[in-house]
Amino acid sequence: MNKIWWKEAVIYQIYPRSFMDSNGDGIGDLVGIIEKLDYIKYLGVDAIWLSPINRSPNYDNGYDISDYRGIMHAFGTMGDFDRLLKEIHKRGLKILIDLVVNHTSDEHRWFREARKTRDNPYRDYYYFRKGKGGSNKTPNNWKSWFGGSAWEYDSLTEEYYLHLFSKNQPDLNWDNKKVRNEIYDIMKFWLNKGIDGFRMDAIDFISKVKGLPESKNVNDEHTGKEFYLNETKIHKYLNEMNREVLSRYNIMTAGEVLGVDPEEARKYIESDREELNMLLTWEHMYVDYGKKGTWDIKNWSLVDLKKILTKWQGTLDKKGWNSQYLSNHDQPRQVSRFGNDKKYRIESAKMLATMIHTLKGTPFIYQGEEIGMTNYVSNDINEYDDIFAVSMYKESIRRGEDKERLMKVINYRSRDNARTPMQWNSSSNAGFSRGTPWLKVNPNYGSINVEESIKDKNSIFNYYRKLIELRKKNNILIYGKYEIILENNENIYAYLRSSGNEKLLIILNFSEDSHLFELPGNIRFAHNELLISNYDIDCDKINELFLKPYEARVYRLS
Ligand code: GLC
Ligand code: CA
Repeated sequence: MNKIWWKEAVIYQIYPRSFMDSNGDGIGDLVGIIEKLDYIKYLGVDAIWLSPINRSPNYDNGYDISDYRGIMHAFGTMGDFDRLLKEIHKRGLKILIDLVVNHTSDEHRWFREARKTRDNPYRDYYYFRKGKGGSNKTPNNWKSWFGGSAWEYDSLTEEYYLHLFSKNQPDLNWDNKKVRNEIYDIMKFWLNKGIDGFRMDAIDFISKVKGLPESKNVNDEHTGKEFYLNETKIHKYLNEMNREVLSRYNIMTAGEVLGVDPEEARKYIESDREELNMLLTWEHMYVDYGKKGTWDIKNWSLVDLKKILTKWQGTLDKKGWNSQYLSNHDQPRQVSRFGNDKKYRIESAKMLATMIHTLKGTPFIYQGEEIGMTNYVSNDINEYDDIFAVSMYKESIRRGEDKERLMKVINYRSRDNARTPMQWNSSSNAGFSRGTPWLKVNPNYGSINVEESIKDKNSIFNYYRKLIELRKKNNILIYGKYEIILENNENIYAYLRSSGNEKLLIILNFSEDSHLFELPGNIRFAHNELLISNYDIDCDKINELFLKPYEARVYRLS
């Protein structure tokens, strides 16, 4: 067996702005992270992924970078970063940083140069195009992922520029080798400092079809996406990046992809392709998206979720590798979305974690998930910061849509659900800051916080520790084969992980009702041993059992 560290690792994502504020300005910072490293180590994870820490005007909270070699002022200095890196490594942890290179900030020096004149040497770093049929029509009908047209008119040079996200995030032109070289240099700058890898933001957006054609899918939420998402030249670029940069370091890469299916995914990550190591796919995140997309919420079904996860498990099994997550800075809180954040918050948070840590793939934990943090509910749009939610709201109000409905949708889907400050203890501002937090703290911090969670031996936090430990001790959880059972069961997700004669059985009840679990007759074994569960269990017969609400069990069968 070929053992690889990033397959065995558990990764903890930090959203620096909301993690820990050390100086009372209301914004999390690098020194704050250093203060909490022992906590992260104690949880048992192996690596930290830091959401962007580079200099940024923060239209999209750091996902709009104006200086790739500088640290965001509010987060601290390069000296702070160097110390953070040292402290992370001292504890035997690794660190990945976010590489946001589909676009820059419009305040980046390249863009400020590019927009000066049409013949500026940086012009071709971006996509500037003439308007169609005169200057008042956008070059094509592509839409921005944050709403509205993907083109912004630049009156100085009388051309439009392309931005697949907000207008403050102009897309870089990856067809230009100079751009690629600049990016590789930035990557080397950080790698030479000693970081251990990258999470690559929106990496399936970087290559666009030549000619930027008009799209026929005018009703799609993302009109035009067939001309850039996962565009074929991308593999040429990632392969080149691998050759020129990645292969020269012992690191890991996880590429975020918003529109890649498992067959396509193989091209990005199969070992002989020499591109990336794993992807952070969105397909399972779309299970509760209605026909109209992000803001059209539909009830998700467990059968759909199981189908998607099983498809990824199967397709990437031989030569690929999966990542596993239900939460990050772009998603609502998992316990609110897939569990029950009221009556069964603790049980369902543990059940969901059991799934993430027993599926085949590298588990990603998003800050606060390990204590069961929940969505933030507010009816005041002014309490929101998320550029996506806020611009959708404004546009919809302009069109005359109902405010109440909009707020309901935003409460469910907004990315701010995950971005409220980390809840450390029950003191003011949840111990996150001495000042006024940049985003409101979830009022439930009195009972949901790290301090409580560490003390209580039945807490979600302590369950996460056990799960991480279990995965470390059982290679089968890392390398064992995945096989779903009871595929069509609408309430229970059950599967086997196996390697040689050894088998693990994972049983997860996704419902707030009790359900009967019946083990298929073809699964034979002489002994069973319970490895972990989220309830006290008094009966060891597993052929037929009643699962309690959100119950999770993992057995070893031999
Ligand atoms: C990714 C990030 C998201 C950001 C977007 C644009 O999806 O995760 O937070 O807004 O890319 O960079
Ligand atoms: Ca601060």
